[in-house]
Amino acid sequence: MDHSRLSMSLGEAVFTQRSIRRFRPDPVPLADVELVLAAATKAPSGGNSQIARFLVVDDPALVSAFGALYREAWWAKRRDAAGWTGPGDLTPQDREQWGPSMRLAEEMGRAPCVVLVLSVPPHAEGSVLPATQNLMLAARALGIGSVPTTLHASVEGRLREMFAIPDDVAFHFAIPLGYPAGAFGPTRRRPTWEVGHHNRWEGPVPWAPAGAQADDR
Ligand SMILES: Cc1cc2nc3c(=O)[nH]c(=O)nc-3n(C[C@H](O)[C@H](O)[C@H](O)COP(=O)(O)O)c2cc1C
Repeated sequence: MDHSRLSMSLGEAVFTQRSIRRFRPDPVPLADVELVLAAATKAPSGGNSQIARFLVVDDPALVSAFGALYREAWWAKRRDAAGWTGPGDLTPQDREQWGPSMRLAEEMGRAPCVVLVLSVPPHAEGSVLPATQNLMLAARALGIGSVPTTLHASVEGRLREMFAIPDDVAFHFAIPLGYPAGAFGPTRRRPTWEVGHHNRWEGPVPWAPAGAQADDR
């Protein structure tokens, strides 16, 4: 596989990758999908088990049908977590936190492409996550936006039916892919001195500001 088109620096890709939830309608070329899948397959997995599988959906009718399922799943998750049944249940503060993903529940069905990240037994999530991140970073390097999303148990049967997914194959993520309607990066993340520990749990990293505690939550 010729990876020379993934020439964006790793630093730029990592530091500008953020969740992209609004997409331009332009299709994602299949050659690019092949390249991001190739990057995904290069990720490590336990014992090199390579259990991750990728179901690429770019048929607009199927993406649209999946979008309806995704919307239902999103609201089912929010109903379970917070009792919300519709946009009217969100406070202005909720909207700040959940607005973008609530909008994705409407947008998913119009994404140019959706990759379902699946696995075959033994379904170890730790052997699926590195591949998922490789996939999204390679997409970023090609200017393609993405976001990892999950579903809800109430739609799993219909997901399996829709895509003829066998019972012994597990679902992990649905990743929409497309050219961003907005911009990439930057992201807001906790500083390394807050999440980093040195030698012992209570040890601040050497670059921590004076007086800061490791994991100062
Ligand atoms: C395991 C996992 C599940 C996620 N599920 C969803 C999801 O269902 N819907 C969604 O819109 N974003 C989802 N996200 C994206 C996160 O909300 C996002 O990474 C986080 O808010 C940071 O946003 P940023 O990347 O734009 O900085 C998920 C991310 C992870 C790692």
